[in-house]
Amino acid sequence: MCAEELYALYRTRQSDRKFSATPIPQEVLRRIVENALLAPSATNQQPWSLVVVSDPERSHRVGQAVVRRMTKMNQFATEAPVHILVVAERGNWLASIGKSVVKLDYRPIDLGILVAHLVLAAQAEGVGSCVLGWFNEEAVRKEVGIPKSKKIALDIVLGYSEQATREKKRKDPKSILHWDKW
Ligand SMILES: Cc1cc2nc3c(=O)[nH]c(=O)nc-3n(C[C@H](O)[C@H](O)[C@H](O)COP(=O)(O)O)c2cc1C
Repeated sequence: MCAEELYALYRTRQSDRKFSATPIPQEVLRRIVENALLAPSATNQQPWSLVVVSDPERSHRVGQAVVRRMTKMNQFATEAPVHILVVAERGNWLASIGKSVVKLDYRPIDLGILVAHLVLAAQAEGVGSCVLGWFNEEAVRKEVGIPKSKKIALDIVLGYSEQATREKKRKDPKSILHWDKW
């Protein structure tokens, strides 16, 4: 793969909020998740589990569980054929020592890197995605049977997008990018 192909994935990956009803083949889903699991993590702790929900009825119910009742935010998620629930797991002892020395919990960083791998792998497979962080965790937990002791960090919705590629809105690099010194 040349760099330009990778950068094209960065440019075209976007938060898709309208999906066709076409299911994503299981082998495509498997490739996306298995390759994303190659993501790096602090001390290789891999502090995650994934629940891939692709059964149409369950997926619809998980979609209903992620809609915010008052604002109807994330309503589009009820139409997504697949939800990947990213569950935070305990870190290993080495990362715990690192955390107490550096005063930084690496697990949210690790989960973010995993999710970046997931959404870019999906994009490379022609599958659209949206990361959902704001949802009713208890309702999702109940629907999928995730134990109370575990934190459901994110829901990644996947599907074949029906949205055109948008232009990216990003901060001007000049305002945040420093070369050699601050
Ligand atoms: C951690 C995280 C949580 C997010 N939560 C939501 C969400 O709950 N609902 C939603 O519609 N989009 C959500 N997004 C998508 C962001 O709004 C989106 O990535 C951002 O506006 C940039 O747009 P783009 O992804 O199309 O480039 C989330 C993104 C991230 C990384």
